[in-house]
Amino acid sequence: YIEKVKAREVFDSRGNPTVEADVILSDGTLGRAEVPSGASTGELEAVELRDGGDRLQGKGVSKAVNNVNTEINNALHGLDPFNQGNIDQVMIDLDGTKNKGRLGANAILGVSMATARAAANYQKVPLYRYLGGADLELPQTFHNVINGGEHADNGIDMQEFMITPVERTSFRDGFEKIVNTYHTLKKVIEDAGYQSGLGDEGGFAPDLKSSEEALQMLHDAIIKAGYTPGKEIAIAFDAAASYFYNTDTKMYDFEGTHKTPDEMADYYEELLKKFPEIISIEDPYSEDDWDNFEKFTAQMGDKVQIVADDPVCTNPILIRKAIKEGMANSILIKLNQIGTVTETLEAIRIARKNGYTTMMSHRSGETGDTFVADFTVATNSAQLKAGAPARSERVEKYNQLLRIEEELGENSTRLAHFPDSVDFD
Ligand code: PGA
Ligand code: ZN
Repeated sequence: YIEKVKAREVFDSRGNPTVEADVILSDGTLGRAEVPSGASTGELEAVELRDGGDRLQGKGVSKAVNNVNTEINNALHGLDPFNQGNIDQVMIDLDGTKNKGRLGANAILGVSMATARAAANYQKVPLYRYLGGADLELPQTFHNVINGGEHADNGIDMQEFMITPVERTSFRDGFEKIVNTYHTLKKVIEDAGYQSGLGDEGGFAPDLKSSEEALQMLHDAIIKAGYTPGKEIAIAFDAAASYFYNTDTKMYDFEGTHKTPDEMADYYEELLKKFPEIISIEDPYSEDDWDNFEKFTAQMGDKVQIVADDPVCTNPILIRKAIKEGMANSILIKLNQIGTVTETLEAIRIARKNGYTTMMSHRSGETGDTFVADFTVATNSAQLKAGAPARSERVEKYNQLLRIEEELGENSTRLAHFPDSVDFD
């Protein structure tokens, strides 16, 4: 049973405070987890409890830590750590709000993940095995190699420009191709006279003139690295359009232009024509513009994967609504958007049951914790975005997948196929 739950304030990859939680079982087994944090957060995400005030720019999490050490510890003492559903429900009920704002989603998620770790450690099985079933597969990974939007101080309004391996013989083989392309991209950026400093997710953050220029650089780097765009390496992007949507004019203030929703669709279509290796588009429209998001999916959904992130925030209720309205054909999944392991599993289940693909995601503020890598394998989530193959808080997720592949064997690597209709059970 759970003997004790405690937390401490640690720091994430942006130097901001975050919660680390420990769950200690009656035999002394420890489970530990660190909570990530986003910058381009959806409006309907579960709420991170932050202290406010002067200390640490108001971002301290001492209240969340204190909630773990007192209320959550009291509520979970003596409970069965193998009943993850019950542990999470007890915390949801104890919090009592819709958005986990009282105890803090950062407090609750830390304990939720640490409970799963403690249970796995007690059984002496890897986390992906504890949370998962028998036929596990390594995911296709999406690597944000040029950072824009809220993740970098440059002129690019789209947030993430990703490369992803398509043809590959193993996870390692695909990852090596990504690494080669990443290093080649650095040269492409420098040869064009730009700085190759890094943004929040380990991608380069050159001060390019436009998103199209970023895509062109990815395209050139893939070829220069010796690959065929769309064959070995494909491209994906997260426009994160909520961040350039003007709620007053209902226009998109995008890279010096003011585009109507239809003009945005034309723009995306042109990009797809110019770069047919684009296989996935995330948040092409704002979280406040469901209608045009849906319209775009109706027009383009059979040609490209369209991922909903900000509008649905890993929330089972919003995901159901999105599916009913045909908003996208893929759902982005982030543990800390909803705040417990159990609800995240439910979000994945709903998406997969309805033929939507799922892309698991890190956050722009990350830690050394590799929970998301194990979680992706455990749920056969098929796709994972965890940043560039640079900066340890990103690379550790991929290193963990390399370890898992070694354990599962090379035939465990999923080959890219869209849309993915594999059942999740
Ligand atoms: P965030 O960005 O972690 O800053 O929210 C990730 C995303 O928008 O997918
Ligand atoms: Zn996103």
